[in-house]
Amino acid sequence: MSDLRALFGIEHPIVLGPFGGLSSVPLTAAVSDAGGLGSFGLYGYDGDRIRRTGAELRAATSRPFALNIWVPTGDEVVPNAQHMIFAQALQPFYDAVGVEMPARPEQYIPSHEEQLDAIWDVAPAVLSVVFGVPSGAVVEEAHRRGIRVVGTATTVAEAVALADGGVDAVVATGFEAGGHRVSFVRPAEDSLVGTFALVPQVVDAVDVPVIAAGGIADRRGVAAAFALGAEAVQVGTAFLVTPESAVNDAHREAIRRTPADGTVLTKAMSGRLARGVRNRAVRAIEASGTIAPFPMQNWLTGLFRTAAGRQELGELQSLWMGQAAPLARAGSAAEAFAELVAGVPVE
Ligand SMILES: Cc1cc2nc3c(=O)[nH]c(=O)nc-3n(C[C@H](O)[C@H](O)[C@H](O)COP(=O)(O)O)c2cc1C
Repeated sequence: MSDLRALFGIEHPIVLGPFGGLSSVPLTAAVSDAGGLGSFGLYGYDGDRIRRTGAELRAATSRPFALNIWVPTGDEVVPNAQHMIFAQALQPFYDAVGVEMPARPEQYIPSHEEQLDAIWDVAPAVLSVVFGVPSGAVVEEAHRRGIRVVGTATTVAEAVALADGGVDAVVATGFEAGGHRVSFVRPAEDSLVGTFALVPQVVDAVDVPVIAAGGIADRRGVAAAFALGAEAVQVGTAFLVTPESAVNDAHREAIRRTPADGTVLTKAMSGRLARGVRNRAVRAIEASGTIAPFPMQNWLTGLFRTAAGRQELGELQSLWMGQAAPLARAGSAAEAFAELVAGVPVE
């Protein structure tokens, strides 16, 4: 058994990518039950919601799972006088989905400390993080509680920083991946390395196991990742399309019909660079040139995106997905999982 499988207590070296805001308990449990590591993204969840979600996950699976959070980078804006100015710029979207322009909240996202306190209570097998290196105190506390820590790198320098910070494994994520570019050493725009170039360089640079992510959606991608030196893969888009995922039909359909060159990297929806479809909302916000900093923009657009999601208005929601979308199959999470396992080299 590879180090990594023993480290996480899993049978197959397949990790379900966490989806901040779009993770589902059934999908996370399905991947863990199949012998992989299901992950659940906790972006925006307060302590109570984390504890509730942890209880739901425990009820749904007795296998190991990961919880995922975004590390504060220090440049997150707090609600301020600019809130209403940026909200006004989005008025047409609020009108289109029938919601009121949002008043200024007390905070956009729960604090790191509040999230961590709840995570300690849930005690997942693995804590995975993006957008930075967890502090020494966090790594120490996790280890004291028997929780493994995984960091996420978009460049070799980030992987080295994470390994130096004491993480147990590093996800090396190429720019093919769906969702946010989670860079933290240099700006995301200057950290765009593809999975094929990134993974072997990270493998050479760090002593901890490497999990390859970005553009892996079938057995061929898994086999390639292992050939590059990865010990596991993390897959997002190919699981996002399954019936167990939390996406609505508009998003699922969009994954099915978007070609490899049909996604872009944009800051329009959240104020941070992320890969998804350039739909009507993204085009209009980019053209307006008015994008609030993170997390203000994410919070402001979130109000119309959530309503649009409920109304199946794909042109007004976030259609996050990666470049491997056309490789995602129509089938259950267990079927997607079996396809990926078929690419794992036999020892
Ligand atoms: C909708 C969506 C949300 C995501 N949210 C997170 C997140 O909150 N935390 C994280 O570590 N990765 C997040 N990711 C990245 C995935 O976990 C995974 O690493 C990535 O999708 C792998 O690339 P692929 O889409 O090509 O398979 C997200 C991806 C998508 C598509």
